[in-house]
Amino acid sequence: MTPAFPAHSSDLADFCWPLPARPGDPLDAVDTPALLLDLDAFDRNLARMQGAADAAGVALRPHAKAHKCPAIAQAQIARGARGICCQKTSEALPFLQAGITDIHISNEVVGPVKARRLASMARHGRFSVCVDDLSQVEILAHAAAEEGSRLGVFIEVNIGQDRCGVNDAAAALRLLEAISKHAQLAFAGLQAYHGGLQHLRSRSERRLAVARASVRTTAFVDALAGRGVPCPTVTGAGSGSVEFDLAEGVYTEVQPGSYVFMDGDYGRNEHGQLQFEHSLFVAAAVMSDRRDGQVVVDAGLKSLAVDSGLPSVWGEPSLRYAAANDEHGIVQRVEAGAPRPALGSLLRLVPGHCDPTLNLHDHLVGYRADRVECVWHVAARGMSR
Ligand SMILES: Cc1ncc(COP(=O)(O)O)c(C=O)c1O
Repeated sequence: MTPAFPAHSSDLADFCWPLPARPGDPLDAVDTPALLLDLDAFDRNLARMQGAADAAGVALRPHAKAHKCPAIAQAQIARGARGICCQKTSEALPFLQAGITDIHISNEVVGPVKARRLASMARHGRFSVCVDDLSQVEILAHAAAEEGSRLGVFIEVNIGQDRCGVNDAAAALRLLEAISKHAQLAFAGLQAYHGGLQHLRSRSERRLAVARASVRTTAFVDALAGRGVPCPTVTGAGSGSVEFDLAEGVYTEVQPGSYVFMDGDYGRNEHGQLQFEHSLFVAAAVMSDRRDGQVVVDAGLKSLAVDSGLPSVWGEPSLRYAAANDEHGIVQRVEAGAPRPALGSLLRLVPGHCDPTLNLHDHLVGYRADRVECVWHVAARGMSR
C-alpha cells in the first residue's frame, strides 16, 4: 500500500515563509541571497527616462518584463508612464490585479487558451497585442467575441532583428484588412522593436543602427499612409537605443525596461547622454573561507542569471566572482595582498542580466542609506505563459 502523505503538520503550521528583510532593518541584516534595490538610483533612473520621453513629446510605456513587480509599475505610472508592456498574457495578470489597466502585450499570442486569457483580461482594462500572421487575428477575434471584450491590435514589423514581425508592407496591409473585418478588434498601430542593437557596445554604432532601423520603420508607416491609413501609435525601443529612438521622431511610444535597474551587460555599453545607474544587486553572504585566495558566497545559479556573463562585485575591485554553482559562488581575490571579506559579510553582486535574475526571486528589498525601506513582491515571477 502506498503510504499516505500527511495533509497537515502541526509543526509546519507555525512556520511562515521567510521574508528577506523588514522595513527598518539595517541592510547587513538582510537574509541572503536577496534581491536589493538602491532606491535613490532607482528614483533617478525613473526620473531620467520619464524626463527624456516628455522632452521628446513621446509616450513612455515601460516594459514590465524587466521587473515583474507591480509596485515598480505603479511608480512608473505615477511619474507619467502611459501604461506598461508585458511579454506574456499570464505576466499581465498580477499587474491587472494591482490596478494597472493599460497593458500592451508586446508579443504574438498563439492558441485559444492564451487568446481567451487576454480577451478576458480586456474586460477589465485597455489591452493590446501584436500579430504577424492572419491566423492570430482570427483567434484573437474569436476570443474577444466570446468574452465580449475589445482588443487593440498592433502589426509587428521586422526592422532587422529577424525574430517576429512581417517583412514587407504588403503583408502588413493584408493583416490590416483582416483586423478591420472584426468589430471587436481595433488597429492600434505598428510595433517595431530591434533587440540586437540595444547591446551594440559603441555609441556611434548604436546611433547608426537606430538610423537604419528607423528607415525601415518609416517605410511601413508610409505604406499605410499611402493607403489612407494613419498609424495611431508606433511603439518599440529598448534601454540601449532609446536616446536615439527619441530623437529619430518615428516612435510615438517607447517601451524600454532594463533602464530601471541597469544590469552588468548594459553597464558594458559605452555611455550615452541618457545614462542610467546600477540600482539592482543580489546580496550574497560569505559562507565559507577555507581556501587560500578565495571565499564562497551563498548566491549561485539559483539566485543569478549568468546568460550575459557572471556578476561583478560592487565596490570591490579586488574581488572577482569567478564561478557559479547551483547554490554557491566562488569569489576570488584578484590581488594577493587584497583584504579578504570576513565570513558572514555581505557582498553586493551586479547581475549580468536583470530580467531572468528577477524571475528567480519572490521579493525585492528596497533600501536607502543602508536601511531597508520596503519589501516588494515580484508578483509576476514565473508567469511565462
Ligand atoms: C518587445 C520588447 N520591447 C521592449 C524591450 C525592452 O528592452 P530593454 O529591457 O532592453 O530595455 C524588450 C526586451 O527584450 C522587448 O522584447
